Amino acid sequence: MGGAFIELDNVWKIYRVGVIDYPALRGVSLSIDKGSFVSIVGPSGSGKSTLLHLIGGLDRPTRGEIRVSGQPISSLSDNRLAEYRNKTVGFVFQQYNLIPYLSAIENVEIPMIVSGVPPKQRREKARRLLEELGLGDKIWKKPLELSGGEQQRVAIARALANDPSIVLADEPTGNLDGASAKVVVDLLKRINEERGVTVIIVTHNMEVAWATKRIIYLRDGVVVKEEVRKQ
Ligand SMILES: Nc1ncnc2c1ncn2[C@@H]1O[C@H](COP(=O)(O)OP(=O)(O)OP(=O)(O)O)[C@@H](O)[C@H]1O
Ligand SMILES: [Mg+2]
Repeated sequence: MGGAFIELDNVWKIYRVGVIDYPALRGVSLSIDKGSFVSIVGPSGSGKSTLLHLIGGLDRPTRGEIRVSGQPISSLSDNRLAEYRNKTVGFVFQQYNLIPYLSAIENVEIPMIVSGVPPKQRREKARRLLEELGLGDKIWKKPLELSGGEQQRVAIARALANDPSIVLADEPTGNLDGASAKVVVDLLKRINEERGVTVIIVTHNMEVAWATKRIIYLRDGVVVKEEVRKQ
């Protein structure tokens, strides 16, 4: 495939805290190819989550433009932006963000309920995704009956529910031990390779970053370095 898929053009995010304007991102320009596997690293407070939220349409830049497949997402209406979040993007968070009173399979169905997939079809799809992620025998478990690594795999299945072209993961291994972290990173890598999904991981963990093909270093809201890894 190749070619710029996600483009950030001089993106600023300024948070207003009381009377003070705090620039979390100060002119980030980036071009991410379709099907790439990228990590964003940097110290706490450097703007990593802010950047991921903007790419995912959870928030809008203060200045600058973000284009996905050439489409400027910052100019989408609220409804279109919600559709973009639901269909084009899958999110994976450090805290999993699963709904505690729903079973694994019901959690995976949620994005498909939002996008109007009929019940039988979405149940089958959720079952298949959980099976693919090695959780076929745990589909009726609730989040608290699962280990952290298993909960994160449910969250990854949920992220894939609507066949997104982008998966955004914010510290996906932040709460996991080394072995479970490796399972999660290997899964994200597999999703990138087998499905051609563009995967962007924010992480503090250099071992996680080294598993990706391109590392973007952020500091004080600007990109200070980039590394392309040969594998
Ligand atoms: N909603 C908000 N309102 C005000 N300031 C915010 C808000 N969100 C983030 N910030 C500030 O913007 C800066 C960047 O925050 P961000 O969460 O993007 O950092 P991060 O690199 O993800 O850090 P961490 O590694 O700790 O998660 C921080 O100084 C933070 O305090
Ligand atoms: Mg963060």
